[in-house]
Amino acid sequence: MTAATATQPQTAMKDFLPIEAIDHVEFYVGNALQAAQYYRHVFGFNIVGYRGLETGSRDVASYVLEQGQIRFVLSTALTPDHEIARHCALHGDGVKVIAFRVPDVDSAIAETRHRGATVVEPARAMEDKTGVIKRGAIRTYGETLHAFVDRSRYMGIFAPGFESVNFPAKCTPGLAAIDHMVGNVELGAMNHWVGFYRDVLGFEQLQHFSDKDISTEYSALMSKVMQNGTGKVKFPINEPAEGKRKSQIEEYLDFYRGPGVQHVAMVTKDIVNAVRTLRDNGVGFLRVPDTYYDALPSRVGKIDEDLKIIKELGILVDRDEDGYLLQIFTKPLEDRPTLFFEIIERHGSRGFGVGNFKALFVSIEEEQKKRGTL
Ligand code: FE2
Repeated sequence: MTAATATQPQTAMKDFLPIEAIDHVEFYVGNALQAAQYYRHVFGFNIVGYRGLETGSRDVASYVLEQGQIRFVLSTALTPDHEIARHCALHGDGVKVIAFRVPDVDSAIAETRHRGATVVEPARAMEDKTGVIKRGAIRTYGETLHAFVDRSRYMGIFAPGFESVNFPAKCTPGLAAIDHMVGNVELGAMNHWVGFYRDVLGFEQLQHFSDKDISTEYSALMSKVMQNGTGKVKFPINEPAEGKRKSQIEEYLDFYRGPGVQHVAMVTKDIVNAVRTLRDNGVGFLRVPDTYYDALPSRVGKIDEDLKIIKELGILVDRDEDGYLLQIFTKPLEDRPTLFFEIIERHGSRGFGVGNFKALFVSIEEEQKKRGTL
C-alpha cells in the first residue's frame, strides 16, 4: 500500500461504485399518456421526451418527465404479452427501475456482479446521431431493478429512440430533487436487503428504527436506512413487525403482490408553496389530528415558518441535533394502496422525521380502516 492510499478516508477506498446522482426513476403504468398528463398538471412536471408508435416503438410507449433535478420515465405496454403488461397486471402501477448515473457502467456491472448481484441487462452501448449512452441493470428487492447509466457522451433527449416533446408543467410546486426512496420488503427480509446494499453496492447503514420507534396500538414496522458513499443516495428499507392488526407494510405487500418501492421523497425549498399547489390540484395528503400541533412548539422549538400555516396545511415538523425538517405524505397515487410521495424541506436535519412516525401511523391506520385493510 502506498502512502497516498493509506491516508485516504475509508469511504473513498471502499467506493467501488461511485454514484453521481439518481439518473431517473422508471414507472411501469397501465396508461402512460394519462399518467404523464397527471404528473404534468398535478405535480408540475415538464414532459420533455417521448417514444411510441410515431417514433417506431411498436410495443412500448414512454414519456420522460422532468422537474428540478428529478427525472421520471413512465412506460406502458402496447401489446398484451409485453413484460410491462404482465408487470402492471400483477403489481399495478409502480416503480420498476431506480437508475443511477455512474461514470463507468462496465465497472458498475462488473463490480456488483462480482459481489453477488444478478445482472438482468449486461452493460451495452446505445447510439444515435447525438452520441452514445451506456446502460446496464441489476436486480434489487421484488421485481425492482437498479440501472447504471452513463450519459456523459450523449447529447440527445434521454436515450436513443426518444424524441423531444415540449409540454410544460401546468403548475410550479418547486420539487427540486429526490431526497430518498423507501423500499418495503417481506417480514424477515430487511436484513437480507441491508446486506445487499452493503455488500453488493457498498452502501453504509445510516440509521435503524426498531418496532419500538415505529409502532402504534395496532401495528409496527422496522426500518434501516442505507446510504451510498457520497451520501447522495438514501434508501430506507422497511419490513413489517408483529402487531395486533395488519401493518401498512403488509397492506402494501398484499396489494403490490410483493416487495417494491413504497415512497419517493422529493425535496423542496418551499414546502408551504408545494403543499398549497398540490392540494389545490387535488392531491390528497395524510392528516394528523389537530392535537399534534398543540404539542409542536414544545417538541421542536422555534422554526422559521408560521405555525398557523403549517397546521392549516397539515405539514409535519421534526427536529434533531442538526436542525429541523418539514414533511408531508400524500395518500397512495394509484387505486391500489401502494406507492405514495413525500414532500420534504430540510433545515439542517438529515433525518427522516422519526418524531412524526407515531402520529403518522395512526393516521395511516385511519385510512386503512376506510379501506377495510387494518
Ligand atoms: Fe420518507
